[in-house]
Amino acid sequence: MPKRKISIIGSTGSIGRQALEVLEYLQDKFEITALAGGLNTDLLLEQAEKFRPKYVSSDKYDERLGKINGCKYLFNGLEEICSKKDENDIILVAVSGKVGLKPTLKAIENGIDIALANKETLVMAGDIVMAKAREKGVKILPVDSEHSAIHQCIKEINQVRKLIITASGGPFLKKSREEMHNATVEQALAHPKWNMGKKITVDSATLMNKGLEIIEAHHLFNMPYEKIDVIIHPQSVVHSAIENKDGSVIAQLGVPSMHIPIQYAISYPERFEGIKTQSFSFADIARLDFEKPDFEKFPSLNYAYNAGRKGGSATTSLNAINEEAVFAFLRGEIKLCRIYDLIENLMPQCTFIAKPTIDEIFELDKEARELTKKSLL
Ligand SMILES: NC(=O)c1ccc[n+]([C@@H]2O[C@H](COP(=O)([O-])OP(=O)(O)OC[C@H]3O[C@@H](n4cnc5c(N)ncnc54)[C@H](OP(=O)(O)O)[C@@H]3O)[C@@H](O)[C@H]2O)c1
Repeated sequence: MPKRKISIIGSTGSIGRQALEVLEYLQDKFEITALAGGLNTDLLLEQAEKFRPKYVSSDKYDERLGKINGCKYLFNGLEEICSKKDENDIILVAVSGKVGLKPTLKAIENGIDIALANKETLVMAGDIVMAKAREKGVKILPVDSEHSAIHQCIKEINQVRKLIITASGGPFLKKSREEMHNATVEQALAHPKWNMGKKITVDSATLMNKGLEIIEAHHLFNMPYEKIDVIIHPQSVVHSAIENKDGSVIAQLGVPSMHIPIQYAISYPERFEGIKTQSFSFADIARLDFEKPDFEKFPSLNYAYNAGRKGGSATTSLNAINEEAVFAFLRGEIKLCRIYDLIENLMPQCTFIAKPTIDEIFELDKEARELTKKSLL
């Protein structure tokens, strides 16, 4: 079997680094075409020297990247990488935030399959992205552990009655709303189960990550919102489940490790021997707990359902306000629960378009970000 050609955009992030661990382990199966990062050019340089891709790209100019033997340096080259159909069988989109949308669309236009970690792409423009992928016959393979789980459980989508997305509940599950409101950045970043990038970790603390995942699941599996449930499961062993029309429930379980969903997305439909996967033991786990989410304490779930049901540009605005509010929290400018207030107050002020074009999506994303920044002054 020829090696599968892969590029990683966002190779210096949490998902990107774990993907490289998987690829190092599976080096007889994959060949790396390109590695792309943002500002962390020290790490990118280290990665490029070790893995020797054909292309390396950064968002910050660094002349050292232009001196790697056999490797072409592309400054700001995400879209260029995603145009190289002959050199990519699949592209792992592991950048965080809105920066994922344009390269994903470029890869789809060029008929390249996508392993999608960047959920913001589907929250911003899910209708457009999925329609384009269907038109071009491109596979969008989920990397998010919940969506990977659902993908692994579904045999025929029309046999499914509902999707059940699990949520660990984050660091404030058992804390009062007041404790949550006064949380420091450090406390919000102390996720009990997963070690991830800062933006998604704060989203996990507010449960907005779950909200974004509801919208992501709607687009990936073409499932109406009333058929997508969320259940709190603090152990993060059941990664998600489906209920079939006949009432049978199928869940996917495993140790909480992103290596597994990353590997499944890039090896699909095959399965290879996995990196570092300790054998799963029900006896060691002993118990699995589940509880209904508290929609009052975590209103982000309602914001996501409401924006998702409204459709059109509503989820674009939600994503933009949330992202700017999270950055403000990380800079120490606002309290954690102010993120909720900003979403609640600003969503009604955002322009709504029922069927936005991609240009309108970018305009409305900008509008929502400006409204948020103005509210922070
Ligand atoms: N981490 C997880 O376990 C996990 C699980 C499920 C889904 N996801 C999703 O996967 C995505 C990535 O998450 P993460 O936790 O890996 O985030 P992260 O650790 O913050 O990494 C983000 C990556 O994006 C790169 N980047 C940011 N802006 C860029 C730009 N303008 N141009 C090029 N590269 C840019 C960063 O580069 P520099 O660091 O070099 O600046 C870094 O490589 C998010 O959408 C997240 O929701 C993550």
